[in-house]
Amino acid sequence: MLVGRPDLDLENPATLAPVLKSVAPDMVINAAAHTGVDQQENESERAFRINAEAPAELARLTRLAGIPIVQVSTDYVFDGRSNRPYAETDGANPQTVYGRSKLVGEEAVRAGNPDHLVVRTAWVVSRHGRNFVKTMLSLAAARERIQVVADQFGNPTCADDLADGLLAAAGVWPSQKGFPQGLYHLAGQGRASWFELASHVLAASALRGGPSAVVEPVSGEQWPTKAVRPANSELNSDAFQRDFGFRAGDWRERVEALVKTLVQQS
Ligand SMILES: NC(=O)c1ccc[n+]([C@@H]2O[C@H](COP(=O)([O-])OP(=O)(O)OC[C@H]3O[C@@H](n4cnc5c(N)ncnc54)[C@H](OP(=O)(O)O)[C@@H]3O)[C@@H](O)[C@H]2O)c1
Repeated sequence: MLVGRPDLDLENPATLAPVLKSVAPDMVINAAAHTGVDQQENESERAFRINAEAPAELARLTRLAGIPIVQVSTDYVFDGRSNRPYAETDGANPQTVYGRSKLVGEEAVRAGNPDHLVVRTAWVVSRHGRNFVKTMLSLAAARERIQVVADQFGNPTCADDLADGLLAAAGVWPSQKGFPQGLYHLAGQGRASWFELASHVLAASALRGGPSAVVEPVSGEQWPTKAVRPANSELNSDAFQRDFGFRAGDWRERVEALVKTLVQQS
């Protein structure tokens, strides 16, 4: 069952217990967060309330209820200075309020409920909500040229894969007591820069008669943002596959399928 605002508001901890009581779930997956990465640089307290204190309370309540909790987290817990994909054993070193608040949230869940999974994902795209693929298609409908950062790398991840992976883990995990590791990475296969992702989106769109534009590579320095993005936040998802038998799809294939759906819908 899906619950969210206004019934359950992570900024208002008093709403959590009544919802848990009325839904009586077998497990809680907390995918909600304050995700305004730049906005949070100016509202740190709110970010920590939603991304750290609320998961702590959810962990406490799920522990009391005797059920597991799955906390969705982010590649932004890393500083992005690695020259290889990050494994779960690599040290976190967040550079933004968002990354710091999500890391404290991870730690709170680990400390608050031994029956937990923390799953870090990255660069999530979907036919729902706001995301990079939809932004590129909207921009291409309005402009002839789009500048996109070419020196930041990560793993574009289809939200459907993330959902399938979480459900696969949820199915396997409760039967395995004493799980050795509660922290996992789950992201799409293959590495991309934002520029490569944008180019792929618009090429796929053009093939299907959707919006298209010239994509121009720029550096992160040429495109300054309030919160500095990691230069390389690739995640190694091998442990997730080893323990849960699930691997997210290749980002190029997933993005092509997504663009096809979005162009058909428009
Ligand atoms: N998108 C990415 O690239 C990415 C990458 C790594 C990790 N993640 C993680 O993946 C998860 C989902 O991210 P997303 O991209 O889907 O974010 P999103 O599009 O910004 O959605 C955030 C969700 O959180 C809910 N939410 C925000 N504040 C809330 C509150 N106070 N109480 C209850 N619900 C609240 C929102 O509800 P409303 O609908 O009411 O606004 C929305 O459903 C997050 O944990 C995020 O940190 C995302």
